[in-house]
Amino acid sequence: MADVSAEKSGQFAIGGDLKVRRLGFGAMRITGDGVWGEPADPAEALRTLKRVPELGIDFIDTADAYGPEVSERLIREALHPYNGVVIATKGGLVRPGPSQWIPCGRPEYLRQQVVLSLRRLGVERIDLWQLHRIDPTVPRTEQFEAIAAMQKEGLIRHAGLSQVSVEEIKAASAVFKVATVQNLYNLSDRSSEDVLDHCAEHGIGFIPWFPLAAGSLAKPGSVLDGIAKKHGAQPSQIALAWLLARSPVMLPIPGTGKVKHLEENVAAVNIQLSAGDISELSALVKPAA
Ligand SMILES: NC(=O)c1ccc[n+]([C@@H]2O[C@H](COP(=O)([O-])OP(=O)(O)OC[C@H]3O[C@@H](n4cnc5c(N)ncnc54)[C@H](OP(=O)(O)O)[C@@H]3O)[C@@H](O)[C@H]2O)c1
Repeated sequence: MADVSAEKSGQFAIGGDLKVRRLGFGAMRITGDGVWGEPADPAEALRTLKRVPELGIDFIDTADAYGPEVSERLIREALHPYNGVVIATKGGLVRPGPSQWIPCGRPEYLRQQVVLSLRRLGVERIDLWQLHRIDPTVPRTEQFEAIAAMQKEGLIRHAGLSQVSVEEIKAASAVFKVATVQNLYNLSDRSSEDVLDHCAEHGIGFIPWFPLAAGSLAKPGSVLDGIAKKHGAQPSQIALAWLLARSPVMLPIPGTGKVKHLEENVAAVNIQLSAGDISELSALVKPAA
């Protein structure tokens, strides 16, 4: 494992001035079933988090809603005072129960959640705060203005959006600088291709969620098996190498609660896909859209 480091994934400057290594870590899977409550194996979840910086990762994605609260709390327990690791969090979804996610974009709620994330993470400013979903029941400009106000107040440094269209990014950009966009994207679901292209054109970081298609691209017997065998790699590693090769603004955040899987995912940075591999993969996995 000595020669495995996320350093090899290269860097991206969030908002033009916050440099992170492109291969990050998604901290949604260090919670219980349905992203609810404590993880089944809390000791392994903490070991996984502690291993993150040892493997050269300096970008962790979380949310107030993961657990809720559990993911942010465990990140603080394992890694505070962070030593250069950027903790990106999100707000704007309420959690009435396991697997339930309801947008709430009222400005006073967004502010409350930022203040609670600051307290839980033990920081004075959040490096990257993302609106988890635009709430369709609240005028979007009010949500964007709340973000701009929190930036001005110094509660958050950079701000991003999640699961948005190009039109929504443009509307938000009129109110605050959109530093990142986090949309569903992986080899088998490329419905956000237009959003990725917009981000690349405007220097916006693109954070693909479900980079492993929630694990289905990581399973043995996955359509990636053939190319994986050729590279002496796991299918999950091929899926991540493909994402890293797809665009310099791509910041994959594979999620796991297991040290072994984390180590495997970081080792994807050592895979060099050829142009032939990339076109084979693109043809092999038919995108959903
Ligand atoms: N913005 C949004 O709306 C949104 C939505 C969903 C997720 N996210 C973010 O995106 C991150 C990534 O998404 P995700 O974690 O849901 O999905 P993912 O990264 O596509 O897949 C994670 C799943 O794959 C398994 N896995 C991970 N590495 C593996 C490996 N090397 N071999 C075999 N299985 C492996 C994990 O199980 P084990 O735990 O058993 O390893 C987990 O079940 C999340 O952690 C979260 O930060 C954002």
